[in-house]
Amino acid sequence: MTEVTIFVDGVAVVAEAGRPLGALMHRLGPAMRRTREGAPRGLFCGMGVCFDCLVTVDGVADRRACMTPIRDGMRIETSLASGNPS
Ligand code: FES
Repeated sequence: MTEVTIFVDGVAVVAEAGRPLGALMHRLGPAMRRTREGAPRGLFCGMGVCFDCLVTVDGVADRRACMTPIRDGMRIETSLASGNPS
């Protein structure tokens, strides 16, 4: 696999291209977002069913991290950084 650099909430992270983004996000910290009630959410089913792993990818909101392959230069925003629930 090819190593690439992506940006998670503005922080550069080296990752392997083609691997699922959800696995990387889980390794960085299990929570990817918070609900309106403030509950942490992250990788749960890992196969695109539960929608607990929603992040913004290159400006597109509500992308399932577990179903998104890592690409060079991609920019990930979590609601943990913005403080806005998703
Ligand atoms: S972890 Fe369930 S949809 Fe991604």
